[in-house]
Amino acid sequence: STITIVKNTDKKQKPQSKDIAFGRTFTDHMFVMDYESDKGWHEPRIVPYEPLTLDPAAMIFHYGQTVFEGMKAYRTEDDRVLLFRPDKNLERLNLSSDRLSIPPVDEEKVMEYLVELIRLEQDWVPSFEGTSLYVRPFIIGTEPSLAVAPSKTYKLMVILSPVGPYFKGGIKPVQINVEEQYTRAVKGGTGMAKTAGNYSSAYQAQAKAYKEGLADVLWLDGIEKRYIEEVGSMNIFFKIDGEVVTPALSGSILKGITRMSIIELLQKWGIPVSERRISIEELYEAYEEGKLEEAFGTGTAAVISPVGELNWLGRKMTINDGEIGSLSQKLYDTITGIQRGSVEDAYGWTVEV
Ligand code: COI
Repeated sequence: STITIVKNTDKKQKPQSKDIAFGRTFTDHMFVMDYESDKGWHEPRIVPYEPLTLDPAAMIFHYGQTVFEGMKAYRTEDDRVLLFRPDKNLERLNLSSDRLSIPPVDEEKVMEYLVELIRLEQDWVPSFEGTSLYVRPFIIGTEPSLAVAPSKTYKLMVILSPVGPYFKGGIKPVQINVEEQYTRAVKGGTGMAKTAGNYSSAYQAQAKAYKEGLADVLWLDGIEKRYIEEVGSMNIFFKIDGEVVTPALSGSILKGITRMSIIELLQKWGIPVSERRISIEELYEAYEEGKLEEAFGTGTAAVISPVGELNWLGRKMTINDGEIGSLSQKLYDTITGIQRGSVEDAYGWTVEV
């Protein structure tokens, strides 16, 4: 390929244990590529990880024209490095970019660049239990202009961060507040895109939940404030009377890759699963009838995060006595097993670096 590599002679110390805070440590190199209208995406390069110099008028700083992705590289027992469905992340990167009026990338080429970067940094993929190398591709509008219009220039970068197990001391079900005041996203908005503003606009609701000693929020739709959308920065699943239900992708919900994988696994296992609208009233009713069996969030960072309790306007729903459910556990074990190469990858989901 045409990629140039400038090696860093200054090597940082790698984490020495599995206690690695999420997204605080970065590797020695990063990937950078530029976009200009007349040249398209060009000059793919791997360079030492270092601060950027950007014009203060760069459009990213003003109107937030940016998208990102998140995936993980895992070290297997026999010392291989695996990515989990990275093609889906690159497909979604372009979906998000389209929503933010950012020009698309060549997914196959970016896959090659990613693999090349991770190969160069392979010693940074930690081998401690529950750890991985988090891969963060992102694109920013760089044109120095305050015009309210798409940037004419962009940078795509990929940075890598070794991360520890999401839950120290095993998976713990969390307590969640059903958010009535704030909205994460509305149909027609940017909810289906992985873009910065979706995350920073959630902090106020998060803070309210923290104040009540709860871990995060359950988001309802922005129009009727009835239909369940996501939990924190994750997709949400419920097991109700033997059937697994997750909100249908309505335009305001992120097309999660863990979400997609869980639906596919349940279908293979012959467990009823449906993508449909589900209201908070329906959920509460199921709870009162003793039919709300399990609830869990899904995402790349945590894989599966069981919900032990929901607080809806002071009404508490305790799910599975606050313990992780057997299906949640089985899904977690299967997906993390495939990711780490200890469970057979029957679906061709992993890509060796
Ligand atoms: C997820 O992986 O579940 C996320 O949404 C990741 C977060 C760090 C943006």
